[in-house]
Amino acid sequence: MAVILDGKELSKKIRGKLKEEVKELKEKAGRPPALAVVLVGNDPASEIYVRNKIKACGEVGIRSIERRLPANTLQEELNQVVRELNEDDTVDGIIVQLPLPEHLSCREVINYISPEKDVDGFHPVNAGKCLLGLYDEGLMPCTPAGVMKFFEEYGIELQGKNAVMVGHSNIVGKPLANMLLNANATVSVCHVYTDDLAHYTRNADILCVATGVPHLIKADMVKEGAVVIDIGISRVNGKIVGDVDFERVKEKASAITPVPGGVGPMTITMLLYNTVKAFKMRMG
Ligand code: GUN
Repeated sequence: MAVILDGKELSKKIRGKLKEEVKELKEKAGRPPALAVVLVGNDPASEIYVRNKIKACGEVGIRSIERRLPANTLQEELNQVVRELNEDDTVDGIIVQLPLPEHLSCREVINYISPEKDVDGFHPVNAGKCLLGLYDEGLMPCTPAGVMKFFEEYGIELQGKNAVMVGHSNIVGKPLANMLLNANATVSVCHVYTDDLAHYTRNADILCVATGVPHLIKADMVKEGAVVIDIGISRVNGKIVGDVDFERVKEKASAITPVPGGVGPMTITMLLYNTVKAFKMRMG
């Protein structure tokens, strides 16, 4: 039976430390760290994510600023909102909640966010620092950074291990594959065009999955004793499920993240972490 990697517990621990730190920083600087969240339109999933982010800020003492824009906002108007937040000295972190309405380019608006305030870690400058392993000099994307915290916390060795990343998105797959490579794992990246996925996954000591395909990874695709990180989240018949067939895979793995309660809570925790980090970097 696998060790269950508990994202709620780890989040609680990190958020507890952040709360202390925020209190000290506020006393020193005369204001708390602040996160601005830009939400365009009213995608129901985005509404929930934004609400959770704002609630999490409040719990650790980070000030949050919500900027809601109508679904028919023009690109130039959205860019202008970001420009104003860049120039606002009392704002430390800026996120534009994705996805945007179809007529808007996320690439364009992300490029407008000042890299020093890009707490999602999506700006090309931060993506470059991630590639080079210059983690301390920039802001790293929250979900991959949260996964790396699991390896640290549970003492999971990466050097020399076969790590397989399934999914090659800009938000998760690519940066996490880089982080694993920077930790000296031997990394394979699989994706929707990969021929014979199981051939790769069966050889993985560390298997990370971020595809959004419910229960893509079955027990016969997993090596005995593997560490399995499930970064998928889908709703099937009203139930939240991951990309891994948890009930069967947990009998084979040495450690596994559940869905919900695994990687999910860590994403918001790392957003709080990045906001505090951005504040400290700006304050020198
Ligand atoms: N939509 C889904 N995940 C994310 C995220 O990590 N950041 C932002 N800004 N939007 C998202």
